[in-house]
Amino acid sequence: MRIALIGATGQLGGDLLPRLQAAGHDVRPLGHADIEITNAESSAAVLEPLQPDLVINTAAYNLVDKAEDDRDAAMAVNGLGPQLLARLAGKNGWRLMHISTDYVFGDVARPTPTPFIELDLAVPSSRYGLSKLTGEKFVQANCSRHFVVRTCGLYGIAALRGTGKGNFVETMLRLGRDRKQLRVVDDQICTPTSTADLSDALVMLVATDAFGLYHATNSGCMTWCEFAREIFRQAKLDVEVIPITTAEFGAKAKRPNYSVLDCRKLMSVIETPLPDWHEAIARYLVSRQNAVGQRNA
Ligand SMILES: NC(=O)c1ccc[n+]([C@@H]2O[C@H](COP(=O)([O-])OP(=O)(O)OC[C@H]3O[C@@H](n4cnc5c(N)ncnc54)[C@H](OP(=O)(O)O)[C@@H]3O)[C@@H](O)[C@H]2O)c1
Repeated sequence: MRIALIGATGQLGGDLLPRLQAAGHDVRPLGHADIEITNAESSAAVLEPLQPDLVINTAAYNLVDKAEDDRDAAMAVNGLGPQLLARLAGKNGWRLMHISTDYVFGDVARPTPTPFIELDLAVPSSRYGLSKLTGEKFVQANCSRHFVVRTCGLYGIAALRGTGKGNFVETMLRLGRDRKQLRVVDDQICTPTSTADLSDALVMLVATDAFGLYHATNSGCMTWCEFAREIFRQAKLDVEVIPITTAEFGAKAKRPNYSVLDCRKLMSVIETPLPDWHEAIARYLVSRQNAVGQRNA
């Protein structure tokens, strides 16, 4: 398949590119310097001459707290950009894969929450979540042959380049080297996901005609505090992680207290669950070690 990969220099794009190529696809990687998805002329000028079979959009405005003030910029990249791409894809008969987020869901009031399925009503509690939900709806309305894939808390080694917003694992490792104690939120339950594992699943999904909305995360769930403790345990860093509440942390954007995604629909198509979150951290730590080693060689 000829594939245009938008956001190729980002975390997910960086892990998707070699996997798509290894699967035999002819991939054109497109970074922000190559395409501006908020601009209809830019997207058409880059994509129409390529006439890809599939466009994969991993580009996004990901600064969740900043989006509360910068709502127009977030909506332009996460809502209107995908609309433009979906119109182009629909008009030209291309497939479109678009990536979304667990933050399309807001707070859960149920005492024993269960993982969200794709049919659950999405009511975001942040501007970022609203902009991503808008993008999903535009893609669904304008391109019938779409894959919309919601995921959570991505971490990939492209973050080591220092561009973009980084990721939680890198933040913990950086802070953990200097501090003996860290305070981490312990009342938001979700499933942070490795972009390497997500990429493996997406490569399998694009080989199908099973278009639609999917949830895709590593297996299991945890709080950010539990995630941090596991990172330090595996990285052999002696850091005490003190649980705090979301209110104590005081972030600008409201995050869901529970946003675990039920991934069974995806599993029914690709027949392989994404790995457990403990294993995902272990493999990430090895990959980042290799990447740092190569950089320093
Ligand atoms: N990161 C997370 O924790 C997380 C969680 C759930 C869902 N997601 C979703 O997963 C997808 C991939 O996330 P990621 O972490 O891989 O993102 P990322 O590392 O921030 O990469 C995004 C890429 O998109 C590019 N980009 C940004 N604005 C653009 C624009 N207007 N036109 C063209 N390119 C643009 C960026 O380039 P520049 O950096 O040069 O601008 C970057 O290369 C996104 O849809 C995101 O919303 C992410």
